[in-house]
Amino acid sequence: MATNIQVVFYSMYGHIYTMAEAIAEGARSVEGTTVELLQVPELIPDEVLEQYGAKAARAAFAHVPTATVARLPEADAIIFGTPTRFGNMAAQMRNFLDQTGRLWMQGALVGKVGSVFASTATQHGGQETTITSFHSTLLHQGMIIVGCPYAEQRLLNMDEITGGTPYGATTLAGPDGSRRPSENELAIARYQGARVAKITARLKG
Ligand SMILES: Cc1cc2nc3c(=O)[nH]c(=O)nc-3n(C[C@H](O)[C@H](O)[C@H](O)COP(=O)(O)O)c2cc1C
Repeated sequence: MATNIQVVFYSMYGHIYTMAEAIAEGARSVEGTTVELLQVPELIPDEVLEQYGAKAARAAFAHVPTATVARLPEADAIIFGTPTRFGNMAAQMRNFLDQTGRLWMQGALVGKVGSVFASTATQHGGQETTITSFHSTLLHQGMIIVGCPYAEQRLLNMDEITGGTPYGATTLAGPDGSRRPSENELAIARYQGARVAKITARLKG
């Protein structure tokens, strides 16, 4: 029986989307895993996205289908990706999660694996707080949290500026958003995706 993983993300400028693709690649590398990439609905009006220069960036992942709360129970594991907003998850992701009250009442996500990855502009802008505060919601839903331990040795890389935390993969967009996810960060993301897939398969078995 295949292990079904949903990678559910929000991205404004594409960094989290790129990380989501790496997470998905890692998960797919584990035999018997099916992976779906899904994005939560945008809440920002079109003209504001235009002002912020986000419209063009978002076109690059416009093909990714929209996540729905109703379909979350189909997954054995859900890996969530969000950019940081003032040290927390983005409102678009919060809004999506705040529609899972019925699932919470039904216990529909209890026992599923949950994992989180994130992106900030700056090195100390809240990567870890974004992920660990996200975990509270997953714990309320009864999900089993999987992080990204130092067995992934790229977390120890001090040769370059890099994202990557034991709580989950991260990237740094830079203050002006021009930095792209590095190979080190993408490899950590692939590791996290594969780890979630392996642990989920074991739990399902
Ligand atoms: C309203 C707002 C708040 C933000 N807050 C933070 C923050 O607290 N720390 C930080 O480092 N970056 C912050 N950023 C930068 C975003 O995290 C950055 O644009 C994002 O990680 C890029 O990911 P994306 O390309 O997937 O949208 C903020 C951006 C916006 C628009």
